[in-house]
Amino acid sequence: MARTKIVDLLKSKDFDKEINVKGWVRTRRGNKNVNFIALNDGSTINNIQVVVDLASFDDETLKPITTGACVSVTGNLVQSQGAGQTMEVQAKNIKVYGAADPETYPLQKKGHTLEFLREIAHLRPRTNTFGAIFRIRHHMAIAIHQFFHERGFFYFHTPIITGSDAEGAGQMFQVTTLDLKNVKKTDEGEVDYSEDFYGKHASLTVSGQLEGELAAMALGAIYTFGPTFRAENSNTPRHLSEFWMIEPEVAFNEIAENMQLAQDFIQYCVRWALENCEDDLKFLCDMYDKELIDRLKFVVENDFVRLSYTEGVKILEEAVAKGHKFEYRVGWGTDLQSEHERYLVEQHFKKPVILTDYPKEIKAFYMKQNDDGKTVRAMDVLFPKIGEIIGGSQREEDLEKLRTRAAEMGVPEKDIWWYLDTRRFGTAPHAGFGLGFERLLLFVTGMTNIRDVIPFPRTPKNAEF
Ligand code: 4AD
Ligand code: MG
Repeated sequence: MARTKIVDLLKSKDFDKEINVKGWVRTRRGNKNVNFIALNDGSTINNIQVVVDLASFDDETLKPITTGACVSVTGNLVQSQGAGQTMEVQAKNIKVYGAADPETYPLQKKGHTLEFLREIAHLRPRTNTFGAIFRIRHHMAIAIHQFFHERGFFYFHTPIITGSDAEGAGQMFQVTTLDLKNVKKTDEGEVDYSEDFYGKHASLTVSGQLEGELAAMALGAIYTFGPTFRAENSNTPRHLSEFWMIEPEVAFNEIAENMQLAQDFIQYCVRWALENCEDDLKFLCDMYDKELIDRLKFVVENDFVRLSYTEGVKILEEAVAKGHKFEYRVGWGTDLQSEHERYLVEQHFKKPVILTDYPKEIKAFYMKQNDDGKTVRAMDVLFPKIGEIIGGSQREEDLEKLRTRAAEMGVPEKDIWWYLDTRRFGTAPHAGFGLGFERLLLFVTGMTNIRDVIPFPRTPKNAEF
């Protein structure tokens, strides 16, 4: 008999018909006459209740039905008399696919800490919390493709292995097939990469932007959505060494249009979550963060504040003058720390903020230089609870200005000759940004540690599973 997913069953009205459900046992309870099994198959956060009349089953069949066991149940769908559910399955036949020994199965009924669940990341998708998070993660990926597709952007695949570190975003992971026990050196004592797989030094990409810009100069509007890697040793609740990034890049857009695109994009994704992930959001709201849904609605309904870095620093300096204590110093020219970003968003404006026109010294070489000679047309989107969720800019389209800035920042032309070619041949104003997928998920799920919104987090000293 064909299996019905629990998500569909709970919507159906096929009462008094025989159905089959398969799933994992969440709980089993009951008395001497009747048992109740809460069954979940991952299709929804909601369980279906299976009613087992003990007189119809022998002990051998029922004994392995404990928390975590996988079973197939055939029986009649009936309207439920009990409180808490509208329907239940009256079991006629139960097949146990796999038992889960209560002595050793780690996910017993009692609540577990998120820290403990990280240690069993291979099993944590079976909890309500992680089922909800990973369903929402899926929905956000769909929303992202949908948003760009509706607007005529093309999904463009940029390489994961790269020969350049043009972003300067931090330490890169080297990719090599050299025998590390026996590395050949050149006469100058350097590693001889001519022997390596690519015949040159290669790494995992920190961003698809530079290649994305090449595509925008041909297809007009593109976006990337792929894994990126950063070997920075930042053990914070907001950093992963492997994370997913979405990077739109649009020909003829300048900074104002780039800001609007960023706002429309995030609002679209958050609205999608509100409309498509109601049960999961409600669960996370009840369990972890009572203000979650209100916060999501607020972001959808309100424009983001637009503000220059210089004005932002002034506000922070005034806060310090009035006695607010920050761990890190604020002052024009220094990069903002998460605490500063969150002060602007959570305490001062109480709204998401887009900060623009940062000092050129703290931003990448490719950002468009302003006429003041001091700032570049960068933009960071700052969010409550998160800090920076998006980083982007209008790009420098002038070849000579770009070359000068690359030289000043120590980016060798031999590594970016192909990138400079876009400015040599048919250059155009253009702009783009990068959204950290897991930072978006932190916001949408209300989780506070980025390790809890990606199935298998990669952080310093941690690559299990
Ligand atoms: O600000 P970032 O470094 O910008 C870029 O990489 C540009 N090339 C993007 C572009 O203009 N196309 O990174 C973009 C976003 C950040 O705002 C943050 O959300 C996320 O990527 N991010 C991280 N997320 C998790 N772990 C990390 N270590 C991250 N580093 C950046
Ligand atoms: Mg950034």
